[in-house]
Formats: sequence, C-alpha cells, structure tokens
Amino acid sequence: MPELKCITCGKEYPEEIRYTCDCGGLLEVKYDLDKLNFDLNEARKRPIGVWRYKKLLPANKNVSLQEGGTPLYECRTLGKELNIKLFVKNEGGNPTGSFKDRGMTVGVSKAIDFGSKIAACASTGNTSASLAAYSARAGLKCIVLIPGGKIAYGKLAQALIHGAMVTAISGSFDDAMSMVMEMCDKYKIYLLNSINPYRLEGQKTLGYEIYDQLDRIPDRIILPVGNAGNISAIWKGLTEFHELGIIDKFPKMCGIQAEGSKPVTDMFKKHLHELVPEKHPETIATAIRIGNPISWQKAIKAIYDSKGLADSVTDSEILAAQKLLSRKEGIFVEPASAASIAGLIKLVNRGEIREGEEIVCVTTGHGLKDPNTAIESCKNDLIEVKNIEELYRVISTI
Ligand code: F0G
Repeated sequence: MPELKCITCGKEYPEEIRYTCDCGGLLEVKYDLDKLNFDLNEARKRPIGVWRYKKLLPANKNVSLQEGGTPLYECRTLGKELNIKLFVKNEGGNPTGSFKDRGMTVGVSKAIDFGSKIAACASTGNTSASLAAYSARAGLKCIVLIPGGKIAYGKLAQALIHGAMVTAISGSFDDAMSMVMEMCDKYKIYLLNSINPYRLEGQKTLGYEIYDQLDRIPDRIILPVGNAGNISAIWKGLTEFHELGIIDKFPKMCGIQAEGSKPVTDMFKKHLHELVPEKHPETIATAIRIGNPISWQKAIKAIYDSKGLADSVTDSEILAAQKLLSRKEGIFVEPASAASIAGLIKLVNRGEIREGEEIVCVTTGHGLKDPNTAIESCKNDLIEVKNIEELYRVISTI
C-alpha cells in the first residue's frame, strides 16, 4: 500500500485522510515502485486514459467518466511560424472539459475507499465543475466555494446543474481556499483541492500520457500555473517513469502565470526562498486568478529540478494567443489555457526557446467554459446582415 510522505521533513504516514504533515509541509504519495511490476507495454493493452496506469494509482476505480486519453495535436502551422515542433495536449477533451477530471476520478474514488459521504473544494471554476460531476456520479454530496462574480459562466453552469451546493463567497479564491480547509477540518468533510495528495495522483497521468502518446520526451512542457498542483503532478509522473526506467531524460517544466497574479514567477525570477503571496490577484484568465498557490513548494521544485522556468504573460497576450490557436489550429481553449501558448510565443521571441525544439503546450480547459470572454474578444467580428444583397456585398470581401 502506498504511504504519504512529507516533502519538507520526510515524515511518513500510513494511508489516511490527511492533507498536510504535522510540520505543516505538503504530502505526497510514495510507492515502492520496484514492487509494483508496472510494465508500460502491458498497460498499453488497456485503452489510453487515467486508469491505464492503475498500478501506479492509490485508489480503486470506484467512479469514472472515462477521463484522460485526451488528444495530443501536432500543430504544424503554428510550429512552422515559430520555428519549433509544437504539440498541444488538449485537456479540454476531458469529460467536464478540463484536466481536473484526471484528479477527480482518483480523488473521489479515494473518498469512497475512505467511506466519506461529503466532498468539498474551493475553486476558480473547473475544480468545482469536475468535483460536482464526479460526486453526482458517485452519489456523494458536494459543497463548493467560489469567489463570487469571478468564475466563468460555463463552469458555474456545470457546478449548478450537477447539483452541488454552490456557495459564492465575497473574497478571492485564496480566501475561499482557507475557508474550505477550515470547514473540512471542522466537519470532517473530504477536501478535494490539489492539497489532497491523492487527487494529484490522478493528475500525474498527464505526464505519463505525454510520453505514452509521443513515444519520447519533449524538450519542454509549457503549462499555465494557478494553485500550482498540475505542474507538480506532471513532474511527479515523469520522475516515476524515470525511476521505473521507462524514460531517460526530462523535459524542462515551464510554468506560465498571468501578469496580475504571478507569485511563482516572482519567486523564480527573484531567486526567493519563500513565496510572497499576491494580495490582489487580477487577470481575465479567472481560472488562474490565484495569489497564494497552495502547492508552490512542489511547483518550484519541479521547475528547478527540470531546469525549467516560470514566466508571466499579460491579459492581452493571453487573448491574442487564444485567438491564434483557435484560428490557426482549430483548437478553442479557455483564457488560462491560452497562457501556455502566450508563454511559448514570449519565450520564442526572447530567444529562450531555440529553433527546432520540441514543445508540448498543455491547454488545460475547453474554450466553451468561458463563452463571454471569447465573444467579447471577437465582438467586432460579428456582421449584421439585413437582406441577401447585403449578404452578397459582405461575402465579396472575403
Ligand atoms: N488552467 C485551468 C483551466 C485551470 O482551471 C487551472 C486551475 C489551472 C490552469 C491551473 O492549474 O491550479 O494546478 O496550477 N484551476 C483551479 C480551479 C484552481 O479551481 O478550477 P493549477
């Protein structure tokens, strides 16, 4: 059975409902990998997806919506323009439209293993949508805390329609996060934010899959960073594949944040030893509007160990990248996801990324999650037509 281990002091705990170490450090799930007999070729006989890697997961498959196995698109047009070999791992292809489903199939399955009846999370939107869906399927009650007025409509619609108890708090995601932790502790409710080490086990399969689909390790993986769980999870997956002897090199992990909420980037660029929270995070990419990311220690380790980096992009760079990916490659992603493409462009322009590098950008959520932002960003593109003559005049300009 896997154990929990503190990443700060190394203390180990048996499998139990626990989110942090007695010392306050973050926990991660540790396996005796030698004993697991994981064979990728054997695993490949099962359909691609989170549960293909069941031997490396800490829960029974109690609830699933067939998550993972998302497309890895080669993007020739954009890649050519940027003089690189570009792939997009599109997590919008998951059942509720974001990478969170990887974590929730495992996290909610674990809640069931533990006999929990109620699950909860704080969320900028996608986590709540995913937890609401998986709780519904599993027959668990679900409570979500969201920053009032600051989550995209598609995500709110999902959380509500799946029957979660949705509470909009007056405050930021960071406030919601500390409230939900206190609430879960007091009422013994199962917490499914990414501080939950079992949830991150599901998300690490994103790292497994990139190798599984590409059959090699790219030079870089670029992805948006908010609460900093995903970059940590992907890195854990890759280090496990390395330990198992499946891969012999690592990609540089490149985390991209929004200019108005970039504490991890500041920490990296200023060589700080501690994260300084951003008190008033702000960005159009509401999914990553986070000032005090809970998993910063794991994320910064992933960045340093992989010789990667953290950087930030402006809202207008995010919106331009969202349009570019939609129009050049036919891939519609939400603003936070477009941050990875905006980051890629910035790093190419700065000469950080060399010609011919092989890059995987992770696009974390579907574009339809946030229709309002997309429509606003294309508002001048809608053409009103009163009759067929006008239609003919209009199309003659195409
Ligand atoms: N992209 C999207 C679309 C997200 O929803 C999130 C996080 C991230 C990137 C950042 O991932 O937190 O693991 O660094 N969304 C969370 C939520 C916080 O509540 O849905 P991270």
